[in-house]
Amino acid sequence: MKTIGFIGVGKMATAIISGLDKNKFKIIISGHNLTKTQKQAETLNVTATSNHEELVQESDFIILSVKPQVLPSVLSKLINHLTKDKTLISIAAGLTLSDLKHLADSENQPIIRVMPNINAQIGQSTSAIVKNEFVDDSAYATVQEIFKSTGSVHEIAEKDFSTFAAIAGSSPAFIYMFIDAMARAGVLHGIPKDQATAIVAETVRASAEMILQSGENPWSLVDKVSSPGGTTVAGVVSLEQNHFIGTVIDAISATIEKEKNL
Ligand SMILES: NC(=O)c1ccc[n+]([C@@H]2O[C@H](COP(=O)([O-])OP(=O)(O)OC[C@H]3O[C@@H](n4cnc5c(N)ncnc54)[C@H](OP(=O)(O)O)[C@@H]3O)[C@@H](O)[C@H]2O)c1
Repeated sequence: MKTIGFIGVGKMATAIISGLDKNKFKIIISGHNLTKTQKQAETLNVTATSNHEELVQESDFIILSVKPQVLPSVLSKLINHLTKDKTLISIAAGLTLSDLKHLADSENQPIIRVMPNINAQIGQSTSAIVKNEFVDDSAYATVQEIFKSTGSVHEIAEKDFSTFAAIAGSSPAFIYMFIDAMARAGVLHGIPKDQATAIVAETVRASAEMILQSGENPWSLVDKVSSPGGTTVAGVVSLEQNHFIGTVIDAISATIEKEKNL
């Protein structure tokens, strides 16, 4: 049985651990406060190690799930314990494979970078994955399996990670804004906020499902809902006249720009 070690046991690690099959993998964790980590281990039905070094020694896969600003100092203390049969995985926003290679102080350490999103908390993350050339097929397949247990996994080129972070990592915030705006319009026209929010959220979920299930281009679905001279096309034209598409694209571009300048 392969052992997966998590360094840092916050929201994302907890979400990933919750989705994993404990009969298939041995899971060990290490935080920065042993008493707290032991309590978390009990709740999550996994094993606490007393320190990060011990975790690295026992793990086949080491998932660095601390905040990006903490990761360099955590990793720098582990370099003497990393061996080439261990795969290092980072879920930290903004740290590239090249950054991680330098931090691991190794030319040929197997390293995988994964970018999950907040929907991991309900087992529906949309994650991106990229590996360096030292990861073998078997390890790569296992890491994909780990992240597929909390949602979907997309193999993308590393140059596209910033774009992915905007359209999958930050976009839930934009989608929440859209849902809230539409629900507020429902309130304006007389429906209580809770009910309006549920109505819009269910409609957004089903509309996304329709795109995924039908394989149709979203724009052709817009046309299908828009009867000639009807109510929907009046709303579609109003959105267009108020630069809906351009506004959304600008928001994604601003998000990408910000990440590149961090
Ligand atoms: N949350 C998301 O939606 C999301 C999405 C994509 C990627 N990520 C990435 O996932 C990583 C974790 O994010 P998160 O949201 O799970 O953050 P989080 O909830 O703050 O978890 C980070 C954990 O690291 C622990 N920690 C701090 N210093 C440590 C140390 N020296 N050694 C061991 N553990 C330490 C913290 O413990 P204390 O709380 O006790 O300080 C905390 O439990 C980040 O790199 C982030 O970029 C998160």
